[in-house]
Amino acid sequence: MEDELKKLFHSIFGIESKEVYFAPGRINLIGEHTDYNGGYVFPAAITIGTYGVARRREDQKIRFYSDNFSKLGIIECSLTDLVYKEEHDWTNYPKGMIHYLIEQGYAIDHGMDILFYGTIPNGAGLSSSASIELLTGVILNDLFDLTIKMLDLVITGKRVENHFIGVNSGIMDQFAIGMGKQNHAILLDTNTLDHELVPANFGEYVIVIMNTNKRRELADSKYNERRAECELALSRLQKVLPISSLGELTQEVFERNKEIIADACLIKRARHAVSENQRTIKAKKALVENDLQQFGQLLNASHASLKDDYEVTGIELDTLVEAAQKQSGVLGARMTGAGFGGCAIALVKETEQDHFIKQVGQIYQEKIGYAADFYIAHVDDGARKL
Ligand code: GLA
Repeated sequence: MEDELKKLFHSIFGIESKEVYFAPGRINLIGEHTDYNGGYVFPAAITIGTYGVARRREDQKIRFYSDNFSKLGIIECSLTDLVYKEEHDWTNYPKGMIHYLIEQGYAIDHGMDILFYGTIPNGAGLSSSASIELLTGVILNDLFDLTIKMLDLVITGKRVENHFIGVNSGIMDQFAIGMGKQNHAILLDTNTLDHELVPANFGEYVIVIMNTNKRRELADSKYNERRAECELALSRLQKVLPISSLGELTQEVFERNKEIIADACLIKRARHAVSENQRTIKAKKALVENDLQQFGQLLNASHASLKDDYEVTGIELDTLVEAAQKQSGVLGARMTGAGFGGCAIALVKETEQDHFIKQVGQIYQEKIGYAADFYIAHVDDGARKL
């Protein structure tokens, strides 16, 4: 793979580079839509992700090329003109990273040529955009000897998403992709950024990723809408409770005070944020204690809450998850990531994996009318130079 990408770099840019980099994608085991509510998340970096080959230029030009969007050809801009442009498509992510790092005072004083190649299926909700952001950060760090800490690249990636692109996302994706560790999941407290690496040890079980292949249309605006709903619910609860986020509430305290929110829909949104946070803490404990039955049940409960209270699943994700939950050798299944399409995960006995994929694939095809895709998740290290 690395040699092929170097050859491709040469044929596209007409010059050699030996520098190859990689940033993973991520799955989230549990803790969904909690990261902008001051709660816990429990993601892991995976072996599919984005590769980059790069070199410094002598002038101020930046040339980007993605083998995934070869029809768009080389997209060019200048170091002195790093503003969001719709026609610059996917390159707005790396442009945003370069822009904010320069703004922070880092000496990025030359242009560059960068080739990207992603193995993350497009729009699958496995964080291809955060993968591109962190990959760009690692490339800049190396090409310009910047010694920026990974956590600072993570924070800058989130800033790109929030302010350059306009998606009001939390920090989970960038954190998992930057700080991931082989065979470990990360329990992250999004309020303090304290985190703990937990061995992702599933014994005779594997994590199967199930891709709905549904285009995530309107996903960003729905995402921002959910976030605004949580903020409104929080502001109403703050009239009676001294809290700064929903993540600070136990279910008992929430149930006792929820009527102050005075809106059935907002109560459901906040209830998900609170209950999902509690499930995440329990799931981490279950994994540490090797209680995979309990872990699986928490995955199922998470999906039910995302479906009924948070309403971010939809028929494609529900079909996959409900079919998965019924198969033999399955401990639990749930959607992963933002929802509205994208992927789900299931904890499946390794010996049942082929049968599982066949059965769930068939049910999905029959009900939805097109095929789902399946991959096995291997948990790997965060963004790095290869
Ligand atoms: C997207 C966002 C994350 C997080 C998840 C939902 O992946 O980028 O910050 O909010 O959705 O858990």
